[in-house]
Amino acid sequence: MRIIKIFDTTLRDGEQSPGASMNVDEKIQLAKQLVKLGVDIIEAGFPIASPGDFEAVKRIAGEVTGATVAGLARAREEDIKRAWEAIKDAPQRRIHTFHSTSDIHLKYQFRVSREEALKRSVEMVKLAGSLVEDVEFSPMDATRTEIPYLLDVVEAVVGAGASTVNIPDTVGYTTPIEFGAMIKAVKERIGDRAVISVHCHNDLGLAVANSLAAVINGAGQVECTINGIGERAGNCSLEEVVMNLHTRKDFYNAGTNINTREIIRASRLVTRITGIQVQPNKAIVGANAFAHESGIHQDGLLKEKMTYEIIRPEDIGLQQTELVLGKHSGRHAFKARLKELGYELSPEEIETAFKKFKRLADQKKDIFDEDIEALVSEEVSKIPEVYSLMDLSISSGISTRPTAALKLKVNGAAVDRVEHGDGPVDAVYKAISAVTRTKSNLLKFEVKGITGGTDALGEVIVTLEEDGKTVKGKGADTDIIVAAAKAYITALNKLAARQRQ
Ligand code: KIV
Ligand code: ZN
Repeated sequence: MRIIKIFDTTLRDGEQSPGASMNVDEKIQLAKQLVKLGVDIIEAGFPIASPGDFEAVKRIAGEVTGATVAGLARAREEDIKRAWEAIKDAPQRRIHTFHSTSDIHLKYQFRVSREEALKRSVEMVKLAGSLVEDVEFSPMDATRTEIPYLLDVVEAVVGAGASTVNIPDTVGYTTPIEFGAMIKAVKERIGDRAVISVHCHNDLGLAVANSLAAVINGAGQVECTINGIGERAGNCSLEEVVMNLHTRKDFYNAGTNINTREIIRASRLVTRITGIQVQPNKAIVGANAFAHESGIHQDGLLKEKMTYEIIRPEDIGLQQTELVLGKHSGRHAFKARLKELGYELSPEEIETAFKKFKRLADQKKDIFDEDIEALVSEEVSKIPEVYSLMDLSISSGISTRPTAALKLKVNGAAVDRVEHGDGPVDAVYKAISAVTRTKSNLLKFEVKGITGGTDALGEVIVTLEEDGKTVKGKGADTDIIVAAAKAYITALNKLAARQRQ
């Protein structure tokens, strides 16, 4: 059976989703989870894009072992040297360089001839190869490139030392039959001289289907992201492509090195860090992916799971939501549960999370895994706190004007503010924005209950925009107004951290 390499680009192309930016600690946490998941290559970022990107790639290269760490670079000398600086501490490292090849890009965006594009690609692959043994080249917008020219570029970069050639469907334009034929032609041209990789975007909803068609026709590497996040409609979803190969080994005669039992944990971590929710009916990791509503299906399942279940929930790491802890659980049980859930927190972080857990246990009888995950997400994100919530009281009702009395710590000093609003959240947000003097715009406000019941933890996610950049902030509390305040403050702290960067 062939083993298809999984190249995860959640930290690079995934981060290009609107509002998905992650800080360095969050990236390291995710990179460690990707290693547990068993991905072969982690594309850790685009080092020349910003000092923050460079630092993240460099720290991942220095701190995360167990997978190849790749840095992205345009086919330019300064990009390649910067990528090398960022990845050089990794035991296994790769430079991934790219140049457009379609006439649309060459003529309208880069204003270079096909000959110049080919020459530059070859030169830059050689430069990358002088720094690192493992070089990947991508002819960007390959699926809108004339095939004979694409094949010439591919052959030339392989001759120049590229050990992987990645064929990107940059704009999500191709179809499975067409893409399969393109990969077959590439395979015929280069044989086994380099690994053929594919990188599909999901604009027409075909990213996974196109990637699988490529596998059938000789691709040995698939580039993908957790939950399929990425530019516009996203990238090929890692969990979908992996579970297709896993479930239909008989058909593809190919597998991966992925430990599928880590899939749900990786998916939830990405949701938690980016604030981008997974649609309930999404294949593999959606909340309804294993929920059976129809009576006929339920009847079949009770008799024999195989009747309606092609994947066992435990194969992707799902357990029945268990009642885990309660008011009387101690520090030890809490710590053990955190470990089982895959969190590696410092003793101070565990202590803070434990205090929050005890406070929650006073308000809520049953505490589920989802509650614990919501509680510790703030510790995991480690956003430096310029602002923190000290106290909040609200009065509102049918005949009471909604009023919020807020006490906020700003750079260590307490500031009080009282504001009125159209509703309690509006009053709180007015008070917070008056104290912080934020210039950001509130783009989105989402509320969800984490577990059932009137004592459930409520979670609020807010999306803020400032200077064309978006950030998301999350807050969880049994009091939804407090959760809303926490979410807003977290987003403001993210913006403050970004300004410092
Ligand atoms: O979509 C794309 O073409 C890319 C390249 C940089 C590989 O992300
Ligand atoms: Zn892409």
